[in-house]
Amino acid sequence: MEKNIAVIKGDGIGPEIVTEAMKVLDKVAEKYGHKFNYEQLLMGGCSIDANGVPLTDETIERCKASDAVLMGSIGGDTTKSPWYKLPANLRPEAGLLKIRKSLGLFANLRPCLLFSELSSACPLKKEISDKGFDMLIMRELTGGLYFGERHTEEVNGVMNAVDTLKYDEKEIRRIAIKAFDVAMKRRKKVTSVDKANVLDSSRLWRKVVEEVAKDYPEVTLEHMLVDNSAMQLVKDPAQFDVMVTENMFGDILSDEASMITGSIGMLPSASMNETKFGLYEPSGGSAPDIAGQNKANPIATILSAAMMLRYSFDMNDEADAVENAVRQTIKDGFRTGDIMSEGMTLLSCSEMGSKIAEYI
Ligand code: IPM
Ligand code: MG
Repeated sequence: MEKNIAVIKGDGIGPEIVTEAMKVLDKVAEKYGHKFNYEQLLMGGCSIDANGVPLTDETIERCKASDAVLMGSIGGDTTKSPWYKLPANLRPEAGLLKIRKSLGLFANLRPCLLFSELSSACPLKKEISDKGFDMLIMRELTGGLYFGERHTEEVNGVMNAVDTLKYDEKEIRRIAIKAFDVAMKRRKKVTSVDKANVLDSSRLWRKVVEEVAKDYPEVTLEHMLVDNSAMQLVKDPAQFDVMVTENMFGDILSDEASMITGSIGMLPSASMNETKFGLYEPSGGSAPDIAGQNKANPIATILSAAMMLRYSFDMNDEADAVENAVRQTIKDGFRTGDIMSEGMTLLSCSEMGSKIAEYI
């Protein structure tokens, strides 16, 4: 098969980690007889430097014309980079929010699993980490607090800032359906996370999720308040299979979930629309402190490329091959700095990419 992949390397460690994912994809193409064409595009700080804006319409159009988008990370040090002296709508993150909205990527899948070989990197008590966990956070990505009306104004000499959390039932229904569909392919449990004891938007969320659940009699549905979910994630993460939640709750809980896997450098993500089209990126950020040093962990980006093979290209064997190669590399004791422990072999970012490609 021939596929056109839009590649947004971005800022910070983005170029390093995406280069390794492309190395692995090229190996897959060679081994399975595919052809992947890459078109490199700018977004984030590098686009601000080149074009004055974090995302151009041209880039959006090129992404739309592609079969899938592979992304690294965007943004810089918010206390030091000149990008953060710009108005909010011209900063790197504005590009990311705009591309999610423009491409209709409402479903953000963030799988979080603890590799047994890395359980010592898990900061939880041993009796909890020994049980392991394997969950998927389905975060709503184009609504809620991130995209509600917002403004800052002075009222009677006092500054006021307003952000609004709005969902309509269609937005809730489509993300709930994605969550139940994914649960059917996993352990058939959905935990819907909300704040229904306080928020109207959460009460509507709960009602719509319950309606959708009727079409999935095999799936067990439970509701959990977001504050309790934050607690349960560190108390007993093994209880979760698919967690579905509002944009902002999902942003926060997915960082928490990633931390208990030991390193955010291990976690991939996929952002999808109603079709098979998606944007694939590691869950972690641009890590400006280690950028350009060939130290970053490329595994999350490589696993994101595997999600692209699976969800956008229907290449399940190829995706399995990438995931198995990652697992074998870890099993054989190869580590980047973030997951390094005594007795293991320390690799640079590019060495890790080459090692995984070798194992394909
Ligand atoms: C994420 C990031 C983004 C978000 C930022 C960079 C705008 O934290 O993908 O989780 O909040 O969605
Ligand atoms: Mg986040």
